[in-house]
Amino acid sequence: MFASNLNKSTMPVFYEKVALIDYLSSIKTTNSTIGFVPTMGALHEGHQSLMRQSTKENDSTVVSIFVNPTQFNNPEDLAKYPRNLEQDVIKISSVNTNIIIYAPSVDDIYEGKTLTQSFNFDGLEKKMEGKFRPGHFDGVGTIVKRLFEIVNPTNAYFGEKDFQQLQIVKKMTEKSNLKVNIIGCPIFRESNGLAMSSRNERLTLQEREEAAIIYKTLETAKTKFNSESTSEVTAWVQQEFEKNDSFTLEYFEIADEATLSTCLTKNKNQKYRAFIAVFVNNIRLIDTISLN
Ligand code: PAF
Repeated sequence: MFASNLNKSTMPVFYEKVALIDYLSSIKTTNSTIGFVPTMGALHEGHQSLMRQSTKENDSTVVSIFVNPTQFNNPEDLAKYPRNLEQDVIKISSVNTNIIIYAPSVDDIYEGKTLTQSFNFDGLEKKMEGKFRPGHFDGVGTIVKRLFEIVNPTNAYFGEKDFQQLQIVKKMTEKSNLKVNIIGCPIFRESNGLAMSSRNERLTLQEREEAAIIYKTLETAKTKFNSESTSEVTAWVQQEFEKNDSFTLEYFEIADEATLSTCLTKNKNQKYRAFIAVFVNNIRLIDTISLN
């Protein structure tokens, strides 16, 4: 249904894909464009920047809010994922009151069969997040493809914090012959450098302050990468986290930006990125930085 039963908001929220599809076809004209920002809610300034870019570049913008169960390999992470639709709608309306919101139920998306499609992402799925979160990218591919089929966007916006996800979505779109432009957008950071993430809401104030170590380490790694080898930089990062009792390093990797293959020897013509995943009190945070 097209509904707006959230207390303080007059914004339209669609809970069912049938109503959303009907509405989108009613506003579509021959050359009109739809921008799409898929999210799992718990919105922050990073999401709002994607929405801002989409509203600038398209005639209409759709934001989806859906905590997708098939991309969580850890049930506790799924259960504890922050959810607050009312707050999210207020944040969306502060960007633009014409944004169309799609907040489906698990049933509206999966129609009683919460199954994951298996994808071949040409090996992109085997590295880093894929290695440590088995099945995660099949879940992401499944939901993003389904949402693209429902919304049929011209342009879709993804944050570069999840850089591997961005590459995976580009690959899925290309392999599935979907006509959607995938647009990567810069990372938004807190004043101490911590990359904005919905999971930051679960950190205590002290953890949030101390999490500055993640980006600080990435920045120093970037400087070191000018003069040191990948293994020297990696060893230094590992030592930094061994000295720290509150943060546990899951991985640090320097990889080629396009293939995500580990950089063994540096090649001047290739673009590299550092990727990091860290646990603080069972909360998993990731970040990335371009190195050259
Ligand atoms: O990045 C996210 O929030 C999610 O992985 C996405 C793209 C909305 C798919 O559920």
